[in-house]
Amino acid sequence: MPSTAIRPSRPFHHPQPGSALSCGKVSLETLARRYGTPLYVYSADQIVARLGLFQHALHGRDHLVCYAVKANSALAILKLLAARGAGFDIVSGGELERVIAAAPEAVGRVVFSGVGKTTAEIDLALEAGILAFNVESEAELALLAARARKLKRKARFALRVNPDVFADTHPYISTGLREHKFGIDIRQAHRIYASAAGNHWIEAHGVSVHIGSQIRSAAPFGAAIERVQKLVAELRRDGIQLQSIDAGGGLGIDYHGGAFDAAAKVAEYTAAIEKALAGFEGRLLLEPGRFLVAQAGALVARVLQVKRNGKKTFVITDAAMNDLIRPALYQAHHEIVPVRRRPGRPRTVDVVGPVCETGDFFARDRKLAPVEPGDLVALLDVGAYGMAQSSNYNTRPRPAEVLVEKNSPRLIRRRETMADLLAPEIP
Ligand code: LLP
Repeated sequence: MPSTAIRPSRPFHHPQPGSALSCGKVSLETLARRYGTPLYVYSADQIVARLGLFQHALHGRDHLVCYAVKANSALAILKLLAARGAGFDIVSGGELERVIAAAPEAVGRVVFSGVGKTTAEIDLALEAGILAFNVESEAELALLAARARKLKRKARFALRVNPDVFADTHPYISTGLREHKFGIDIRQAHRIYASAAGNHWIEAHGVSVHIGSQIRSAAPFGAAIERVQKLVAELRRDGIQLQSIDAGGGLGIDYHGGAFDAAAKVAEYTAAIEKALAGFEGRLLLEPGRFLVAQAGALVARVLQVKRNGKKTFVITDAAMNDLIRPALYQAHHEIVPVRRRPGRPRTVDVVGPVCETGDFFARDRKLAPVEPGDLVALLDVGAYGMAQSSNYNTRPRPAEVLVEKNSPRLIRRRETMADLLAPEIP
């Protein structure tokens, strides 16, 4: 029997050669007809399976997978993950409000990261009783201590250390070098833990690290944890006993859709971390975002026009950079497939949106199977940092979102209306 832990890397497929692209058994054509386009569609089953890969790989060790809410903060997805035991990594009071709205019982499994927490956000998190604050500077620790004292709520904290490890990824999403704004220089951490030891209102709970995002190899994670584990051992010798190590998020996926075995990736990643943790008896926290949700999502768009300008062919869709900004912002690659295949040879085209910017593109000089105006296309691997980074640029209402669970689709966010967009304005 094949291992249930190994799943295909995407939940979207053509059930038969002539049929429409589907999420499980649910046709994206049907969903587009029912809910309109552009439309985000997510597979709940894949999100749950991905969480399971981490939980399975860490079976036997005290651990908590804190999903990075920023990757996709849909309430339905938070609820889905919370019900399977996940915790959450948040970076704002707003994300905490989302966790409270979706799964109030999971508040005790929340860690709060971020380089600039406001007093109001700290108070909200203290009152809610989150698991721990990942503190990014000495000044923030002082503020946390002051607020904890004021509210008479003891604060558990982890210092987010900067391990000075290079991770080979896009420069905008690499965070673990001393030159980046993130974390506390690991060489300063010992002194800060020692100085916090006398304060009744703050409790050194753990240490955290996050070296960047979309990191494809396990080695930099191991290197970072090795440095963290060394710090933990030194602190222990000085009588400071940390209960948890938070290894952050950052495990990358394959956007090009080659032979990608998600279970093997997770096993390799957790093995590198476990090896570096050698001798650490406490709890391991992880903060994966992209790996859990990216490949579960597709953005379904309709082709408005196919237009030739000189030598170039442009496929213009009703989705645009405001709906999915990753290609424009990080030169990110997303596979694009027609929902229903037409006969004929692929053509080299640019796939673009209607926004008035040359940066509004999804693909440039891409070989795409033939499409005609009115056809549907699906942009793949958009479950992470897709809808979460969308905007109303060009006064475009944001897409609707559908979650498919066990072959049954459910609208989890209705399409925005012009009334939604105009509501906060004062003419
Ligand atoms: N923990 C912390 C402290 C983070 O800053 C992040 C992501 C994560 C966890 C989750 O990382 P993941 O497992 O998703 O790689 N918008 C960019 C990605 C920005 C990542 C920011 N921090 C993109 O679309 O590629």
